[in-house]
Amino acid sequence: MTKSETIKVGVRIPGETADYQILCGSGLLENTGDIVRMALGEDVRRVAVISNRKVFGLYGEAVERSLKRAGISAGSFMIGDGERFKTLRTAEKILGFFNTAGIKRGDAVIALGGGVVGDAAGFAASLHLRGVRLVQIPTTLLAMIDSSVGGKTGVNSSFGKNLIGTFHQPAAVIADVSVLATLDRRGMSAGLFEAVKHGAISSEKLLRTTEKMIDARNRDPRLNGAETQAVFAKGIAEHVRFKASIVKGDAREAVTATGNRSRKILNFGHTLAHALELATEYRYLKHGEAVGHGVLFAAELSKRLELLPANSIKSLNDVVHRVGSLPPVDKISFEAVFSAISNDKKSRGGSIDWVLLEGIGRPVIVSDAKFPKGILRTALRDHLMSTL
Ligand code: NAD
Ligand code: GLY
Repeated sequence: MTKSETIKVGVRIPGETADYQILCGSGLLENTGDIVRMALGEDVRRVAVISNRKVFGLYGEAVERSLKRAGISAGSFMIGDGERFKTLRTAEKILGFFNTAGIKRGDAVIALGGGVVGDAAGFAASLHLRGVRLVQIPTTLLAMIDSSVGGKTGVNSSFGKNLIGTFHQPAAVIADVSVLATLDRRGMSAGLFEAVKHGAISSEKLLRTTEKMIDARNRDPRLNGAETQAVFAKGIAEHVRFKASIVKGDAREAVTATGNRSRKILNFGHTLAHALELATEYRYLKHGEAVGHGVLFAAELSKRLELLPANSIKSLNDVVHRVGSLPPVDKISFEAVFSAISNDKKSRGGSIDWVLLEGIGRPVIVSDAKFPKGILRTALRDHLMSTL
């Protein structure tokens, strides 16, 4: 298989001591050791590789072999597979492993997996010895375009999703599109729904790039062809460039920032997504699927509030449906979802800043204190009952 050209996206976050690079291409895993050395310097001695059995079974050996070749010793630790394992308990187990493996301040952590591994391992890395360096090796599309970039780490709890967490920027991100070959269709669709979210808030251009990725996946579901891999490497680079451009202006998601370049805009679709996930105990929907529902819902709410014209909502809905069908939500209790949104509201001081749209690439933050009475309830009832 011909390898696609490696694209490097540099990220500079004001106030952070080091810049980092995101590498997008195919066949990068076999160069993990050299990339880690380049990013962390010659003194790196030992790394802790955090993964799960499924991903490590597929790619762990290639990563460890490459690290060994570069003279870096590695110890690995597996966490449970799935959203329900993104917990404080898991983070505590990872921290225990760092201690027994003797991970020192100059050493590093590698997160090899999807967003669950990346968020949990990143959270533990930010706590161990008050912070050790982190290299993200995202292995799902969602993790490549979103969760591995920008430094948000965290775990879920009974209080809600991702409410416990830290900001801890990675030292490098290695996005090797070849690993997407083993992702199942549902997993790939989950990433594509999150990609549509980026397109919607960024620009027509990124939405069109996302459509190219969707079409390439539909033609070549295993992403086997060099051409498909190149479409993905370029597409992922464009997505992370957009995400980095937002993060660098508002790395810690300032509470007071409400402009259309605030980091809050990256949460487009997430208010409903998180409520759906909490209401179904993180077991029914993949995060990206919940975001797919959230994108459709936020667009519909924007239309009902007369912010978004009908043609824009149609074009967005078409792209979501091109990805594939979303799991139905008609069996999910309205009260459970509404109360998850209301609890979120309480924890945010009585109102929620919804990310809505005035057009493709024109996000706007609107407090629900300004919504006409009852609009949220009605729109939510309609969404849960709609056959998608
Ligand atoms: P995931 O990590 O659960 O991975 C999905 C499934 O794919 C898992 O079963 C995993 O084992 C498997 N898998 C991973 N890579 C594979 C591969 N190459 N081949 C075969 N199987 C593979 O889910 P996800 O969608 O990657 O991530 C979702 C998580 O990301 C959520 O917890 C969400 O909150 C978080 N997230 C975080 C941020 C952030 O900024 N930190 C942003 C977006 C999402
Ligand atoms: N995924 C939202 C953020 O990184 O801010």
